[in-house]
Parts: sequence; C-alpha cells; structure tokens
Amino acid sequence: MSSVLTIRGGIPLSGRVAVRGAKNLVPKAMVAALLGSAPSVLRNVPEIKDVDVVTSLLQLHGVKVDRDPTAGELRLDPKAATAAPSAEIDAHAGDSRIPILLCGPLIHAIGEAFIPDLGGCRIGDRPINYHLNVLREFGAVVDKRPGGISISAPRGLHGAKISLPYPSVGATEQVLLSAARAEGITELTGAATEPEVIDLIAVLQKMGALISVQTDRTIRIEGVPELGGYSHRALADRNEAASWASAAVATRGDIFVEGASQRDMMTFLNVYRKLGGGLQIEDDGIRFFHPGGKLSPLVLETDVHPGFMTDWQQPLVVALTQADGVSIVHETVYENRFGFTEALRRMGATIQVHRECLGSVPCRFGQRNFHHSAVISGPTELHGADFDIPDLRGGFSHLIAALAAEGVSRATGVDIIKRGYERFTDKLQALGADFDLEEDR
Ligand code: EPU
Repeated sequence: MSSVLTIRGGIPLSGRVAVRGAKNLVPKAMVAALLGSAPSVLRNVPEIKDVDVVTSLLQLHGVKVDRDPTAGELRLDPKAATAAPSAEIDAHAGDSRIPILLCGPLIHAIGEAFIPDLGGCRIGDRPINYHLNVLREFGAVVDKRPGGISISAPRGLHGAKISLPYPSVGATEQVLLSAARAEGITELTGAATEPEVIDLIAVLQKMGALISVQTDRTIRIEGVPELGGYSHRALADRNEAASWASAAVATRGDIFVEGASQRDMMTFLNVYRKLGGGLQIEDDGIRFFHPGGKLSPLVLETDVHPGFMTDWQQPLVVALTQADGVSIVHETVYENRFGFTEALRRMGATIQVHRECLGSVPCRFGQRNFHHSAVISGPTELHGADFDIPDLRGGFSHLIAALAAEGVSRATGVDIIKRGYERFTDKLQALGADFDLEEDR
C-alpha cells in the first residue's frame, strides 16, 4: 500500500523552510566522482530518493560512499570501481533516469556500461535518443538488449564535433561526462546552459577538466587522460524554492526560503512580481508572500535557460487559479506536462488545455496531438478532492492546491514527492499545514 496524505486545506502557509543542493545537480556530481583517480567530497546534499538511488548504483559499481545525511555530506571513493550484475542494476535503478549518465564515466573507469530501461516522471515519452547518439559520436557501441542497453567502447572514447537538435540538459551532461577524459577535443553546439549544467562544469573543472562555455551555446572540452577528486558545495535547488514560493502565494501565506538563490531564479522572480507576489531578497534566502489584494493574470511560456523553467510551471499554475483574470501558459519543453490540471479542475479550477501553440516561442509540439498550452481563468475557489500523485512537480502542485483549498483532500502515491523534495512533510508542519500522513506499510 502506498502512503496516504490527508490535507485539511485553507490555512495560509507561514514560516521558514530551507532548501539544500539541487536534485538536478547532486546525482550528476555524484556520477562525476567516478571519473576521478582520488576521492571526492560533495556538500549540501539533500535527503531525497534520487540521491539514495545513485548511492546504491555507485556502490553496486564498487564506489565507496560514506554519507552523513544530517550534515549533507558525501564522500565518494571510486578506487575500486568495477562492473555490476545487470539484474542488480535494474533492481537499484528504480524509477530514476540518472543511470544513462553513468555511461561515459563507467566506460572510462571499466570499459563498459549497462543501462536498465529508464523510468523518471510521467511527463511525456522522455526518449534517450540524444544520449545514445552522443555516445555513438564518441565511438561507443550501443547494443539494445531485453531489459536494457549495453554500451562498450573497445577503442576508448574519442572527442567529437556534436550538435544537439535541442538544448537537452541530460544530453549536454552526457557530453560533459564523456568528453572530460576522452582522447582529443569535443565541440558541442546547441548545448543546455542551465545553472545545474554550469555547476557540473565547475565540479569537472575542480577535478582537472578543461571546459569552456561560449555565449552561443557552444561548449568546448579538451580531453585529459586523468582527473582527480573534487570538493564541492552543490548549488541550491531553485525548483524546490520556486515550489515553496508558489505555495506561499497560492495559500495567501508568507514563506522564507532559506538557501534560495536570486542569481539562479531571476526569470522566476520577475514572473512572481508580475503576478503580484511579494518578494524580499536577502543574502541567505528569499521571502515569498501574498501581499493582500488581487493577483494579476499572466501570459507565460516555458523555455530552456535563461527562459522560464518547465519545472516552475506546474506549481505556478496553481497560483494562477487565484489570479484575477485569464492566464495563458505555453509549455515548450515537454509535450505532456498539463496532465496534472485534470485534478485541479476537479478541485474547482477553470483550466482548458489546447493542442495549439498559444505563444511565440518556436515549439516542437504545435499542431500535433499534444495538449501543451493551458488557459486558466481565475480567481476560482478550490475545494478538497482525492487524487493520485502523477509525477514529481505535478504532484507537488496537487499538494499546493489541496493546501489552498477549503475542505479535505486525500493524496495517494505521495512517495513520489520524496524523489525531489527533502523532508517535505516536516517542512509542511513547520509552515503550519494541517495534515496526517499514513505511511506506507
Ligand atoms: N529529449 C529527447 N531526447 C533525448 C533527451 C531529451 O527528445 O534523448 C527531449 C525531452 O523529451 C524533452 C527535451 O528534450 O522534451 C528536454 O529534455 P532534457 O534532456 O533537457 O531533460 P532531462 O535532462 O531529462 C532535466 C531535469 C528535468 C527538467 C529538464 C529540463 C534532471 C534529472 N531532470 O531532465 O527535471 O525538467 O532537465 O530542464 O536533471 C524535475 O526535476 O522534475 C524534472 C523533470
């Protein structure tokens, strides 16, 4: 049986929460440690399931992992890296997509990699074709087998000229992790430049890699034969921070998010201010609050960095149900990221989703069968409902809606939230939410 969260909503969330290292950086920095000839130390590591999954996968491959969860510190020693039995990799990968990023480092460390069929959030097909093409460009042989993919490089990985058809975060990281120790120079055009990608480059530079980022989405990597360890503090989780920010305004509350970083959230902060959300930016975090009065509707498109991040979209849509007028949101990164609005409609929100591009950002999904634009009319009174958590961000958005709604909501499948939100029930408690959690038995 899955855990059930019962929420009695309608209480403004108020208080202080802290965010630690980014879910979308920490697992990749852990993987990077495999490239080193010496141990690495990672700090500001959150207690989330994605970190548990990568810890298990690395241990299975012979990496010694010492973890102090309270201090948020990991020590990773790759000295005894070795191949792992494929059935066990499968069992440990769970629903994570991180294993695909183990390929380059594993090939450098032990000459081969096996990647189980990948999970991740249900927000579209989430193919791995860019990743496999990148690995082939480096000279790897990709062999699809039942239950997974076996990858080897009999003559090692060689630098290549690579052009991504879309600035994919994961494929860019695949290139970085494969190229840092590849023979020769790699030039990547059409790269993603999200802050988490730049932080991974910082990690690799500490290890001795030679990587330069140009202004036109080109990244140049001069392969080096050996890398050392690193000591690094992970950048803060801007997606978790944006989720609490949306929760503050949707519940008419007031939340100080310790660790939230203005530099990595500028686009979000502009949008939040246009919505009418209150902001107070301090050195150690950001206070997000509802200043009273009406919220303004928005016209918004998600995009790759420095655009409005797709992971900020779902929590903000909940806040838009409380804005005074019609908002339009065009999702251009994932083709299927509005499924979560069905539960919001059941809770009383007025949201229509459309196949058409309701925006001007060139998008790969227009006039196809993807409902990737949403029109939200507000303000609407939300009322409690029962729902099953569909994915990480959509699921957290359901929780925000339930916290804002009058009445009782029951959420099943809440364990998904633990993939990327550290101790979220402790944080809800600290913010004064009224809920009961019936833990998985
Ligand atoms: N894509 C392909 N082929 C590929 C890879 C990606 O077509 O081989 C497409 C995807 O289907 C999507 C687009 O390219 O339409 C962008 O995907 P990207 O590769 O950038 O996403 P990702 O690396 O799989 C990371 C985050 C996501 C975040 C995106 C976009 C991690 C573990 N995940 O995913 O985070 O939304 O970048 O910034 O870093 C989340 O945190 O909930 C989450 C989904």
